[in-house]
Amino acid sequence: MTDPPTPNDSGSKAWSGRFSEPVSELVKRYTASVSFDQRMALQDIRGSLAHASMLARQGIVTAQDLADIERGMAQIRGEIERGEFVWRVDDEDVHLNIEKRLTALIGDAGKRLHTGRSRNDQVATDIRLWLRDAIDEILELIAGFQRNLLDLAEAHCATPLPGFTHLQVAQPVTFGHHLLAYYEMTRRDASRFADCRRRLNQLPLGAAALAGTSFAIDRVFVARELGFDGVCENSLDAVSDRDFAIEFCACCALIMTHLSRLSEELILWMNPAVGFIDLADRFCTGSSIMPQKKNPDVPELVRGKTGRVNGSLMALLTLMKGQPLAYNKDNQEDKEPLFDAADTLRDTLTIYADMITGIRVKPEAMRAALAKGYATATDLADYLVRKGLPFRDAHEAVARAVRVAETRGVDLADLALVELQAFSALIGEDVFDVVTVEGSLAARDHIGGTAPAQVRAAIARARDVLEKRE
Ligand code: ARG
Repeated sequence: MTDPPTPNDSGSKAWSGRFSEPVSELVKRYTASVSFDQRMALQDIRGSLAHASMLARQGIVTAQDLADIERGMAQIRGEIERGEFVWRVDDEDVHLNIEKRLTALIGDAGKRLHTGRSRNDQVATDIRLWLRDAIDEILELIAGFQRNLLDLAEAHCATPLPGFTHLQVAQPVTFGHHLLAYYEMTRRDASRFADCRRRLNQLPLGAAALAGTSFAIDRVFVARELGFDGVCENSLDAVSDRDFAIEFCACCALIMTHLSRLSEELILWMNPAVGFIDLADRFCTGSSIMPQKKNPDVPELVRGKTGRVNGSLMALLTLMKGQPLAYNKDNQEDKEPLFDAADTLRDTLTIYADMITGIRVKPEAMRAALAKGYATATDLADYLVRKGLPFRDAHEAVARAVRVAETRGVDLADLALVELQAFSALIGEDVFDVVTVEGSLAARDHIGGTAPAQVRAAIARARDVLEKRE
């Protein structure tokens, strides 16, 4: 009997012992993840150090092994931070690259590190550690965006803007009130991220490949070392589910959707036909052919990149849906969409916080649009209701008044008292307190309403929330 042929590189793979032929370069590249999962290197080292400490405490490796591992890992961390670490596709992923280097540096202790652990629980741990950091950073960035949004809202808590329904002038709102709508959206977004963080902060290590390990490990100790709130209760679930990554991408997709809506408004508002705002040049570009153009490229890209983040969410959902328990290599595909969603959102939030400060408001244009749109028609109807007219009759009377004002090309507030009285005898001198834009705004004086006093109060509450998180 002859031994099966030994491929040239068989010795270089952590798992190649049972294999009789080498994988092709293409398959090597196809199955490797090191080109992208090296982003989790520091998390991987952190997880390994906690695991090694536990192994030493439990008497599974010696104190000398632990000291060697700590020394080796310190050197490797330095090499990575200085950009000197040589990542090898032959070593497949971040975990094996680091372990291989460790063994080259310290010998047998490096080979003992993997006792009681598998790459399956290792990678699940690394992603959670990475996401925890990403979420903390995103929460900071959301707060920065919100602070600038509140500053702009405060400066315009009494600036009238046409509020739209069906993209047609509906009723006056203040520009500050309008911006606060986005504060509320992003406040919920932040709380979603915080929730996601809470749920993912459980330790997978100890699940090993899928069933747990025969070594007397101490998972609670490792969880504490790594700042997890607890341990994953089921080993199969711990290594296989990526619901936390899906949830993270869903949070990213939702906040991007909100920012995309705001972008759409910025684009509309700065269209010369609308002209409500101007956007600082640093967020726009010109046209290579049309010299007059100033295009809102950054808001358009936020809108466009929202599609990309939605794509990440779909990719992860689809990745998961057909997988039987427990770990499958499919899961290696979770990282690129995840990283891309996080990177896109971080960049978007950073740019947006600055872009908010680059918005120049043009109140005259907003006011002119209000007058053209008969934005206070509802106020006149409400006025007649308060004078005793049933709402449907009031609606009818005001509709007639709008028709007349329209043919004359004036606003309701520009009609004389006697002219207004032709539509209802109930109309008195006090009507001019309500059909003006200021009157309309001031009347909506309740929590959630657009009255400048309410907007000011809402800003104060929002600032309070932001300060408390510091
Ligand atoms: N690179 C792998 C991943 O990202 C690590 C886990 C590999 N486990 C395995 N049994 N092949 O999922």
